[in-house]
Amino acid sequence: MADKTYAPIGVFDSGYGGLTILKELEKTLPEYDFLYLGDNARTPYGTRSFDVVYRYTLQAVKYLFDQGCPLIIIACNTASAKALRNIQMLDLPNLAPHNRVLGVIRPSVEKVSEMTKNGHVGVLGTVGTVVSESYPIELVKWSEGRVKSTVQEACPMWVPIVENNEIGTEGADYFVRKNILNILAKDNHIDTLILGCTHYPLLETVIRKHVPDGIHILKQGHIVAEKLVDYLLRHPEIESRLSRSGQVTFDTTESAENFNSKASLFMGRPVEAKTVSY
Ligand code: DGL
Repeated sequence: MADKTYAPIGVFDSGYGGLTILKELEKTLPEYDFLYLGDNARTPYGTRSFDVVYRYTLQAVKYLFDQGCPLIIIACNTASAKALRNIQMLDLPNLAPHNRVLGVIRPSVEKVSEMTKNGHVGVLGTVGTVVSESYPIELVKWSEGRVKSTVQEACPMWVPIVENNEIGTEGADYFVRKNILNILAKDNHIDTLILGCTHYPLLETVIRKHVPDGIHILKQGHIVAEKLVDYLLRHPEIESRLSRSGQVTFDTTESAENFNSKASLFMGRPVEAKTVSY
């Protein structure tokens, strides 16, 4: 059991993608403690079935609760789409009724609704996120009629490109271009494009190269951070339980050595992860 004074915000992703959220969280809320968990041993989640993503995500949530996290951000769209609702409705009441688990889809949907001028939105995501239809459903529910059309494009090669360090290659350029052309062909009036996978900001340079000027590209990191600030203000019962010593720690289910070299590059400072199993 964890030290009782240590109560970090848990940040979970299938691999490295959630670091794009963590980076913004620590920038916006530097006084809080964060514990990042990457299930790198079992990434990617994007092509896995509903049941498997739910099972893996629930295991991660239990692990983070055991480490003392009163609040967890599922920094993964696939897990948010396929597991979050069940965890919130079915598991949390028995597991830890006073703790909270939040996802990345709802804050993104709220932001997109504010940003779009013409109501034409595009969503880039994993196969799992796209097939779940979470974005189109949530956009209808929360945009108050502002979003009129949502088209989606699954980009199954993008996560493996990031996880395998192929970001600057011709292969990356080929697949990114192909998926961007596909989504623009589905609706050439799109004015706002959501990067609906936390891995995708790592491909930002190549994505920008193929997206016409004038289309907003929304990354989720600062959106989630902004909404979390607001959440903590509205939920003092959770906020008061969080520890604040500005510590950020990293756990991975794969080799810590591999994780450290990639995560350090991305975070722009040395990262010392610990390999864990649960
Ligand atoms: N980063 C995750 C997301 O936002 C998924 C990556 C994966 O396929 O595991 O959807």
